[in-house]
Amino acid sequence: MMQLTLIGWGAIGQAVASRLDGEPGLRLAQVIVTDRRLASVRQQLGDSVVVATQLDHALMREWQQNRDHVLVLECAGHSAIDRHVLPALAAGFECALLSIGALSEEGLPQAIEAAALSGQTQAHLLSGAIGGIDALASAQLLGLDSVHYVGRKPPMGFLGTPAEAVVDLSALTQPHVLLKASAREAARLYPKNANVAATVSLAGLGLDATQVELIADPSVTQNIHEITARGAFGEFHITLKGNPLASNPKTSALTVLSAVRFVLNQVRPITI
Ligand SMILES: NC(=O)c1ccc[n+]([C@@H]2O[C@H](COP(=O)([O-])OP(=O)(O)OC[C@H]3O[C@@H](n4cnc5c(N)ncnc54)[C@H](O)[C@@H]3O)[C@@H](O)[C@H]2O)c1
Repeated sequence: MMQLTLIGWGAIGQAVASRLDGEPGLRLAQVIVTDRRLASVRQQLGDSVVVATQLDHALMREWQQNRDHVLVLECAGHSAIDRHVLPALAAGFECALLSIGALSEEGLPQAIEAAALSGQTQAHLLSGAIGGIDALASAQLLGLDSVHYVGRKPPMGFLGTPAEAVVDLSALTQPHVLLKASAREAARLYPKNANVAATVSLAGLGLDATQVELIADPSVTQNIHEITARGAFGEFHITLKGNPLASNPKTSALTVLSAVRFVLNQVRPITI
């Protein structure tokens, strides 16, 4: 039996839970929320799920002792990695992460690695909104020469970013290149748009050698991701046009599905 913990009960957390509901061999056992939402989420989920603001390591240890598969899925944000994921890894609990943009912070990938090593467990970085990460990470084993990522979104997808100081997003009539830089610089300037660039970097050439272009394009309605990678394996180019998640237009539906797929691969007899 898998005892699943979700950190974060926002658009992704709720959509993942609803997709996994009824899956044999799996139980939503624990949900971690912020103080502000504790009472309302407790009321929503009832007594069968532990709803708390901190992971209950003692309870999770009991599940492990019963030989259950204990998995923590982070779908909350940067602060949840520091507050919940690092201690959980160090205590020996396997974690899967969606807030990959946070790993652009200097030292955080190393901190995750050290915590997983000391807990003798694993941290899984999920592919989220982007596809082709399997091919990129495989190709990297033979050496990559270049990886280029282009993220194209409707202008309003860049609200609340430095783009607002550069261009009048609501008045754009042509595509506007907001940034051409390394993935590290892109994450520093556009942290809210960093998840895919960071995922591509971590699977491929790293944050400094991965080239990123961000474009506000008034002619598109989806989030469009393009990856071009070249290396000893050959070359590939993928374009992924992601539809938004109905409950949070800033999140792609594929992000939820990537987490659901990961969990199903842990409980089903054949994985793909
Ligand atoms: N990898 C990807 O491709 C990808 C794509 C989309 C979103 N994401 C990431 O997934 C995360 C969740 O996205 P969402 O659309 O569900 O956002 P959301 O805002 O709808 O939900 C996030 C929830 O997590 C809660 N939260 C924040 N910090 C917390 C903490 N320390 N402990 C417990 N709960 C906490 C918030 O209160 C909120 O309810 C974000 O970090 C986002 O960047 C990743």
